[in-house]
Amino acid sequence: MPAHIAIIMDGNGRWAQQRRRPRVIGHRAGARAVNVCIDFCLERGIAALTLFAFSSENWGRPEEEVGALMKLFINALDREVAELHRRGVQVRFIGERERFSAAIRARMDGAETLTRANHALVLTIAASYGGRQDIAAAARALARDVAAGRLDPDAIDERLFASRVALADLPPPDLFIRTGGDFRISNFMLWQLAYTELWFTETLWPALDAATLQRALDEFASRERRFGLTGAQGQPGAGAGNATTPDETPA
Ligand code: FPP
Repeated sequence: MPAHIAIIMDGNGRWAQQRRRPRVIGHRAGARAVNVCIDFCLERGIAALTLFAFSSENWGRPEEEVGALMKLFINALDREVAELHRRGVQVRFIGERERFSAAIRARMDGAETLTRANHALVLTIAASYGGRQDIAAAARALARDVAAGRLDPDAIDERLFASRVALADLPPPDLFIRTGGDFRISNFMLWQLAYTELWFTETLWPALDAATLQRALDEFASRERRFGLTGAQGQPGAGAGNATTPDETPA
């Protein structure tokens, strides 16, 4: 069973187009699929779920679509957070929060504060997130420490770097799922996905159901994870946190 699943929720626009409806209808249906996914993780006892809701590049979409997505985020937060809290879900956001409106930022902060002590599931929403930005921000933070004399550059190793990227306190994703039929990581969690098992499906995000997620889990269970070692050496990295990922020996 994966402890942490990371998902690129792709295919909302095509789902709507297939029904001759505006793209925003696909995003609305996509928000319902988010609930399907959360229910599934809670039922299976999966500890962490990270969803790519909006990339740093998505700001470049037509103004009307970006506006509709922002409204959808506000509505979803207003509608869902109390229930998520009741169910023991800890809600977090990663990404460039400062690019969102004050109304959205206030809701993000409020959701995080309210749910901070929950442990049934850590739900992270990546919003205006980019993997390269995440890595650049970690490098910047380390550079600041060096410039301030707090850090010796020779002390910068994989473990220290890992402690500065997003979700450093969680185990890295065990399983990555992308819906919508494309075979790309699209700048999602580039550091954290180093040893993650990748699973792709043609299913468009709004059509996601528990059976599709179960297929991903079944496939995950059949994979041998070697973390750069041999099969005979077992699975030393399983469950290891970001900061304790084994050395990056080529797989
Ligand atoms: C990708 O589909 C999806 C998005 C850019 C937005 C994701 C948003 C949601 C699933 C809804 C709300 C989410 C939360 C967390 C409340 P696409 O538009 O790129 O689809 P396409 O590839 O078919 O055009």
